[in-house]
Amino acid sequence: MRDHFEIRDHDAAGRIGRLEVPSAGVTVETPALLPVVNPNVLTVEPERLRTEFGAEMLITNSYIIRSTDRIRDRVLEEGLHDFLGFDGAIMTDSGSFQLAEYGDIDVTTAEILEFQRRIGSDVATPVDVPTPPDVDRERAERELATTERALADAEAADTGEMLVNAPVQGSTYPDLREAAGRHAAGTDLDVFPVGAMVPLMNAYRYADVVEAVTAAKRGLDPDCPVHLFGAGHPMMLALAVAMGCDLFDSAAYALMARDGRYLTVSGTDHLEELSYFPCSCPVCTEHDPADLRAGDDDTAERLLAEHNLHVTFEEIRRIKAAVREGTLLELVDRRARGHPAMLDGYRALLDHADQLEATDPVSKDAFFYTSHEAARRPEVGRHHDRLARLETPEDLLLTESKPPSTHDHDAVWRVKPPFGPFPRALSETYPLTAEVPERVDVAAQAAAAEGVRRLAETNPETAITLGHDGWAETALERVPDRVAVNDLRDLGR
Ligand code: GUN
Ligand code: ZN
Repeated sequence: MRDHFEIRDHDAAGRIGRLEVPSAGVTVETPALLPVVNPNVLTVEPERLRTEFGAEMLITNSYIIRSTDRIRDRVLEEGLHDFLGFDGAIMTDSGSFQLAEYGDIDVTTAEILEFQRRIGSDVATPVDVPTPPDVDRERAERELATTERALADAEAADTGEMLVNAPVQGSTYPDLREAAGRHAAGTDLDVFPVGAMVPLMNAYRYADVVEAVTAAKRGLDPDCPVHLFGAGHPMMLALAVAMGCDLFDSAAYALMARDGRYLTVSGTDHLEELSYFPCSCPVCTEHDPADLRAGDDDTAERLLAEHNLHVTFEEIRRIKAAVREGTLLELVDRRARGHPAMLDGYRALLDHADQLEATDPVSKDAFFYTSHEAARRPEVGRHHDRLARLETPEDLLLTESKPPSTHDHDAVWRVKPPFGPFPRALSETYPLTAEVPERVDVAAQAAAAEGVRRLAETNPETAITLGHDGWAETALERVPDRVAVNDLRDLGR
């Protein structure tokens, strides 16, 4: 059991948790968004991040502080919390990102951890190597070995109460990501960021993000708090939570604002091109795009940054509500419609439906079939597995002594796409209470056919009579010989 992290609710692989940060004397609710604060440029004052936006934790860069003469001594003297004027939890990065950008940094893990402790960081980071995507395998392995030595140095360091990150690298090699996750979980470090995702996210390669994160998660233990380093665009947060990420950091709110970019849950707009603000945050209710364009650049940048933070925190709250209600995958499905690359990410996530199934609650309020992707949700696979284990109820056992009868309602398996057959007794149980459109698509019918196949496989000796409402034609065309199909409408259900 990880001492500092407690999971309260699950939906898919997403969860609501509590991360205890002892040196800050606070417990942070996850999923949590950590605004990135540049110690040299306070676009939005840290105290306002807490009081006006609800940030319980933020992240800043200890390497920048250490390399900037103007602030280093002041931060050492006052401590990070007083320097920033923030009394929540503060995570610090180590300079690894600078290492990735510039190829070299002049600090070791032991030195930067010592510095992070001296300035009063609450969650520190060793010097991991953010190996970019698509490098050759030899480089990915070599750099992963360096990252793993950094984790060993971090374990050996005297870090007191301060929590320490154990970054998971491995480039775009799922097996290396999984091995890196397993190695990290085997250390006594505390928080598990999946690293080097920024180049993938900047290139909109969300399917590759999903492959890397789901691989890392297979190696990590389910109770490890997972940070997705560099992820803060509101469009992708629901997907990231559904994969099982708990912490995010957003530099996007400030970086995008500097370029006049306006974030939404379905993408990025440009202030120059907006006629209206489709948002009700304080910025968007008090201003319109023409105002911001007419005013001075610094004010426009600050207001855009504030809007960007408002939509991002709003999305985090919406995601938490969805996890609590069991509607997270419906939310991911909606977000997937914002951009084809997000749809790729969602489809890649559903390639790992079995992995999501492990923590997906067995019962929720409702299953809404809102796209053909929903035919691949974990609930569908779980139902199929259940059909393969289900002891056929007595009244559905049709043998020679009890031949199928078209008028015997009880002797008929109900069929509901995308799930397939189920005994009538289960019709009021999740997920068979699903809301499914009348016009059933091919994906749902194919999934139902898979259910029929699994049922026939499990009951090799019995005749199976399916009843359907007239909408499962394609599904039922391909059923094995032993399976008869009755139209439930003829039976006057
Ligand atoms: N910030 C964004 N990506 C990374 C990463 O891979 N490692 C560290 N330390 N910081 C990051
Ligand atoms: Zn707004």
